[in-house]
Formats: sequence, C-alpha cells, structure tokens
Amino acid sequence: MPIHYTNQITYLEKLRNEEDSFILELETFAKENKIPILNWNSAEFLEQLIIITKPERVLEIGTAIGYSTIRIARNLNSGATVDTIELSRNNIPIAENNFIKSGLTEKIKLLEGNAKDIMPQLKDKYNFIFLDVDKEDYEELFYLSLTLLEKNGILFVDNLLWQGYAASDDTQIPKKYKRSTDHIRKFNKLFLNESVINSSILPIGDGIGLGIKK
Ligand SMILES: C[S@@+](CC[C@H](N)C(=O)[O-])C[C@H]1O[C@@H](n2cnc3c(N)ncnc32)[C@H](O)[C@@H]1O
Repeated sequence: MPIHYTNQITYLEKLRNEEDSFILELETFAKENKIPILNWNSAEFLEQLIIITKPERVLEIGTAIGYSTIRIARNLNSGATVDTIELSRNNIPIAENNFIKSGLTEKIKLLEGNAKDIMPQLKDKYNFIFLDVDKEDYEELFYLSLTLLEKNGILFVDNLLWQGYAASDDTQIPKKYKRSTDHIRKFNKLFLNESVINSSILPIGDGIGLGIKK
C-alpha cells in the first residue's frame, strides 16, 4: 500500500537523474535480495539535509548494505564522519565490502552489534542521527538518540507512515503488519509530543520524521 499515487511515483522516477552507477547498483542489489533500504526520494532529501547542515558527526542506526551510509558519507565535509550500527551477521560483510568499493572508508566507522547495547556506551555526541531499524526498537532507540544529539542536532527517522498502514483502517492491515503498525502509531505520538525536539512527519518516501533538538 504506497503512501502516494502510483502515477506520481512513476513520474518522479522518470525525472530522476542519479549519475552515480554504484548507487543504482546498490538499489538493484537491495531489491533483488529483498533487503529494505531508504526510498531513493527520501535518500535525496537526506543528502540535501546533510549538505545544508554540514554535520561533523553523524550516527546511523541500521546500516543494512550501507546504501544510506554511503549517501551520507559522500556528502560530508572533509574531516566529518559517520558511525553506523548494524547487528545482522549477514549484512555486516556486505556493508563492509560496499564501503571499500565506495572509496569512503576513512569517513565511515561500522559499529557491530545491537544499537540498544552500543548506544549507551557512546561517549561523544552527534549533530545528526538517522534511525532506521526494526520498528519495535524505535521507542527505546529514540530516547537513546535524544541523549546523544547535540543542541540543534537533527533526528531523521524513516518509515513513519509505514507503507500506508499507519493511517489505514485496521481492517486493511495484513496480520503480519499489525504489530509493527501498532509500534509505529505509538511512536508517532511520542515523536510529535516530545518536548525536547521540534518535530514533524513529512510524506516523503515511506514517511520521514524530522526532529530538531531544542
Ligand atoms: C531498514 S534496514 C537499514 C537500511 C539502511 N539505513 C539504508 O537505508 O540503506 C534496517 C537494518 O537495521 C538492522 N537492525 C535492526 N534492529 C537493529 C538493532 N536493534 N541494532 C542494530 N541494527 C539493527 C537490521 O539488521 C537491518 O539491516
């Protein structure tokens, strides 16, 4: 169930002019191997935010194959870095290999393990955090993210419209999406009512949450 009309998506895809063949190759790999990655349109918006805000330190929670990590890293200023956390034993070597292929390894640090264990041990704060993991972990990792975010830092969260199910009538939600939809609905209320951030949910890609730490 897409959150936009299909003809609008098709129209934007026709206009798209991504010139980096490696980015397109990663998208094809993810599609063929059914690995969820950020929608290309959301990834372009993420890149624009990185370009505008010029973060020195970025934290990504949920690396998968390294698609969004590379899109972040390729827009960082000299000396700026992205730490990215991944727990999947299958995805870690694929991401590592992609980081080498991207030529951006000096900007990227892969932290292996569960973000719930890793984040409480992180000492330094971040200017930009991208949260993109299993939906049942969002709430806990959201609060950990808030403690790690600098003042005026940005929190970027994917999937807040959850393939259209967040706003759907319950009878339209397939059984396998019910639990995750409940998590997203609960999270959206927390996200929009949390007083330490200025937050909004934007209907880009699968729904992007944008929070700015006060
Ligand atoms: C949607 S994918 C990330 C996609 C990636 N951000 C991109 O757009 O290219 C989510 C990833 O988070 C990982 N993950 C899920 N829960 C996690 C957790 N608690 N800690 C670390 N990684 C987690 C999964 O193994 C999966 O690879």
